[in-house]
Amino acid sequence: MDFQLKTLTVARAAAEKSDVLIVLVGSAPIGAKDPLSARIASARKAGDLPDKAGKLLALYHPDEVAASRVVLAAIGDGKPESVRTGVLAAVNAAKAQGPKRVVMVFAHEADGAAVASAVAAAADASYVYTTTKSKASNGEGGRSIRQLVLGVADAAAVTQAFGEARATVSGIELAKEWGNRPGNHCTPTLLADAAKELGRLPRIKCEVLGPKDVQKLGMGSFAAVAQGSAEPLRFIVLRYQGGPKDQAPVVLVGKGITFDTGGVSLKPAAEMDEMKFDMCGAASVLGTFRALGEIQPAINVVGLVPACENMNDGRALKPGDVVTSMSGQTIEVLNTDAEGRLILCDALTYAKRYEPAAVIDIATLTGACVVALGGVRSGLFTSDDALAAALQAAGEASQDRCWRLPLDDEYAEGLKSNFADVANVAGRAGGAITAAKFLQRFAGDFAWAHLDIAGTAWKSGAAKGATGRPVGLLVNYLMARARGTSAAAPSPSKSARKTGSSAAARKARSVQ
Ligand code: BES
Ligand code: MN
Ligand code: ZN
Repeated sequence: MDFQLKTLTVARAAAEKSDVLIVLVGSAPIGAKDPLSARIASARKAGDLPDKAGKLLALYHPDEVAASRVVLAAIGDGKPESVRTGVLAAVNAAKAQGPKRVVMVFAHEADGAAVASAVAAAADASYVYTTTKSKASNGEGGRSIRQLVLGVADAAAVTQAFGEARATVSGIELAKEWGNRPGNHCTPTLLADAAKELGRLPRIKCEVLGPKDVQKLGMGSFAAVAQGSAEPLRFIVLRYQGGPKDQAPVVLVGKGITFDTGGVSLKPAAEMDEMKFDMCGAASVLGTFRALGEIQPAINVVGLVPACENMNDGRALKPGDVVTSMSGQTIEVLNTDAEGRLILCDALTYAKRYEPAAVIDIATLTGACVVALGGVRSGLFTSDDALAAALQAAGEASQDRCWRLPLDDEYAEGLKSNFADVANVAGRAGGAITAAKFLQRFAGDFAWAHLDIAGTAWKSGAAKGATGRPVGLLVNYLMARARGTSAAAPSPSKSARKTGSSAAARKARSVQ
């Protein structure tokens, strides 16, 4: 959808040609005296438009309005969360008639946060997946809004927030697109091609490694997961350089299992189709890069995506097999369905070469995290309090929330193995945490956080589909870092960096 920002009063919005006019009405008194504002004021006075965010009142062909339909939507206190509720309700109601051009105006003053929330919610409510539907079916059901003009009292004051929100939306929609694609339309190779496409954006470079490169790097754990599949693995390396060359980057690592059958530890048939979403961590990294390419903040970011299928065949990894990770640690694979950590551990080891300021991995890692937190908050794991605070704040600000879970060493007890340095699973108890404890063994040398998005990356049931989360959180975190307002520790001091700086790291940074 094409988003536009315009300086509009309610009166001016009423004169705009559109299929639907949405007026976002806060609980503050309406001062304007134009006919539409007067009508809104009297509707509120009569109790026909309660203040509660999400309440709607539809008007048909009011004389004073150029659009044939008007939806008044309450946004209560006007805070971002209330704006989201109001906009979701209004756009969901308005889209039934298949409008092409929608004008949405704030009846009261709106700050950058309110504008960003309106843009994100409007995009969420109007998103339609079409890629694997026939043209005929798209003609009926896939009618999507082409243009949305957002009217505010002073466009200049919120231009930056609007631009960032629009870029974030394009990142979220890229993440949704790749998340929603079925496994046969989203192979590791196709995912890598999508990443290469991003390499055309300014300041972004993309490099893709194949099975031989991965073998050479010693990523025995990642390669082992891929070995049961006919699709060759891909290791995607994205670099966004917006900051000085020697500035330590933030590294994002996304789990890219394009389909997870469970392998020999086969998953049950029910809902197994949803394991096409097992690359949503990877998709969130691609989406974040799309947003970075549009916003162009002054920061350096690296994206790493180990991508493969977890499949069954004569060559597939077996329970009990011991594999050697790139770190040198050997791993006893007690359950081939705990494959996410097996591909992520090698990517975390690879991340070390960048001497990163922080490494954040994003993964649909455990069913246990869905049990713990449901679909509302992603699981956040880190031993770095500053990084935790920054990611939590980014989650709140972007309404893409997370919740910190513990990493006490006692949780690692169950990962002990008689035949390798570590086992890839512990017992059932605390499964999201034991998975994080496994990853932590490979993240010793840098500030690290893990986001388990198993519950938040997609919705099941009638609304089945990718959510694009946590692109909002990640972009918000990176923007806060770029502005220097992040609670996360700034990049280490020069002297600290010098002592810790290897030639490999310098080289890696210099080619960023
Ligand atoms: N991709 C799954 C995690 C998952 C399961 C996400 C269900 C969302 C819904 C992951 O690879 C997996 O299978 N994890 C296992 C780990 C277990 C074997 C320790 C799980 O959660 O059951
Ligand atoms: Mn699995
Ligand atoms: Zn998986």
